Amino acid sequence: MKIAVAGTGYVGLVAGVCFAEVGHDVTCVDIDENKVKLMESGVSPIYEDGLEELMKKNNATGRLHYTTDYAKAYREAEAIFIGVGTPEMPDGSANLSYIATVCRQIAESIVHDCLVVVKSTVPIGTNDKVEQFIKDFLVNDVKVEVASNPEFLAQGTAVRDTLHAARIIIGTESKEAESKLMEIYEPFHIPIVSVKRRSAEMIKYACNDFLALKISYMNDIANLCELVGADIQDVAKGMSYDARIGERFLNAGIGFGGSCFPKDTKALKFLAKQVGYELKTVEACVDVNTRQKTRLFEKAKERMITFSGLKVAVLGLTFKAGTDDLREAPSSENIKLLLEQGADIYAYDPAGVPRAKTEFPEGKIGRGSICYVESPKEALEGANICFVFTEWPQIKSVTPQQYKEWMRTPLVYDGRNLYSLQEMKDTGIEYYSIGR
Ligand code: UDX
Repeated sequence: MKIAVAGTGYVGLVAGVCFAEVGHDVTCVDIDENKVKLMESGVSPIYEDGLEELMKKNNATGRLHYTTDYAKAYREAEAIFIGVGTPEMPDGSANLSYIATVCRQIAESIVHDCLVVVKSTVPIGTNDKVEQFIKDFLVNDVKVEVASNPEFLAQGTAVRDTLHAARIIIGTESKEAESKLMEIYEPFHIPIVSVKRRSAEMIKYACNDFLALKISYMNDIANLCELVGADIQDVAKGMSYDARIGERFLNAGIGFGGSCFPKDTKALKFLAKQVGYELKTVEACVDVNTRQKTRLFEKAKERMITFSGLKVAVLGLTFKAGTDDLREAPSSENIKLLLEQGADIYAYDPAGVPRAKTEFPEGKIGRGSICYVESPKEALEGANICFVFTEWPQIKSVTPQQYKEWMRTPLVYDGRNLYSLQEMKDTGIEYYSIGR
């Protein structure tokens, strides 16, 4: 089928590439000419395992195209997928302006009946409005239907998550829209759950917020473990055998970040409020996460007279391993606080540095300073204190002995529970982690 995809971020590009991979004829639309050229040459604008290989392969088959000419792409498509961002507004609501722009372009371009599929995460009821909005701006006498098809991919494993998804959710209001989406997804051989549009929109929020709740719950229990002398990793292990709980997303740590959980928890909280409902579980989840992000910094602050003039090693900047994304990363919050306190930060991250430099340019910032280094060793050498914020393999592979050898004072605050307490103690490291 001829498909156009609006937006070439994590959601749009990965969807487009995977549609081409299963045999559809796909055109990815982006407003940025340079980005289009880059993608045509097989270079991915995002860091995602396996994506470039699939781009190169499908560019060569002639099934995958990129363009800035949205009018042509939309005009020729039988289905148009929207995968643009819905960032958070200051009040926690979702910003739908990118979606609106694409909708107007679609309305003004299409010349025959067409299915518009919204992949972006949007508040419940938005797709009713999207459909009306497109109809309001239609230039030609054509039939347009809007379907919801939420995306569940995680960054770092996006291609795998799309090609081998646990399920595909489609939300439609007509049999024709349902069968067209079934046809598009048939070659994936993945179970399809077909529901009404609003339920599909809700499934996305319900899933993300449930996972976020699970993490905040574990972080809450972890903090309690510290106070009562239990070990959260043993507790999680014991819990994981209960199939009703499941073994994944039980890792306590420095709090969740990324482009989805922080935004989607706040958006659902906001949406509930709008309809006069207090969503207490999700509110608590957001509060616990906010507190969790700076928990180690607060602990360190209690321990130190000052951070001023100290070499502080920061290991890991991205919100999780396997991505270069820094959105809502716990590291940002902590770096801000450390700089305010006058720390001289030496930060290491295998993928996040270019983006980090735009938020915290190298050099003096306020009372402190920041520089970026090429290896954990450079960050740790002569350091007075170390914070671990991301579980990259390159960071995990630093041994307790190396912390001891390289640091001036072996004082480590680990937000990812990477090391055994006993081993750190035996090596002579003052070690603080989460929930142990
Ligand atoms: C998430 C969802 O997993 C995905 O289904 C959805 O489509 C988008 O949001 P993503 O944000 O890419 O994906 O990353 P994920 O692996 O879910 O991690 C999110 C955050 O939670 C990270 O900061 C991670 O470090 C944290 N996390 C995850 C924990 O603190 N503990 C865990 O046990 C799992």
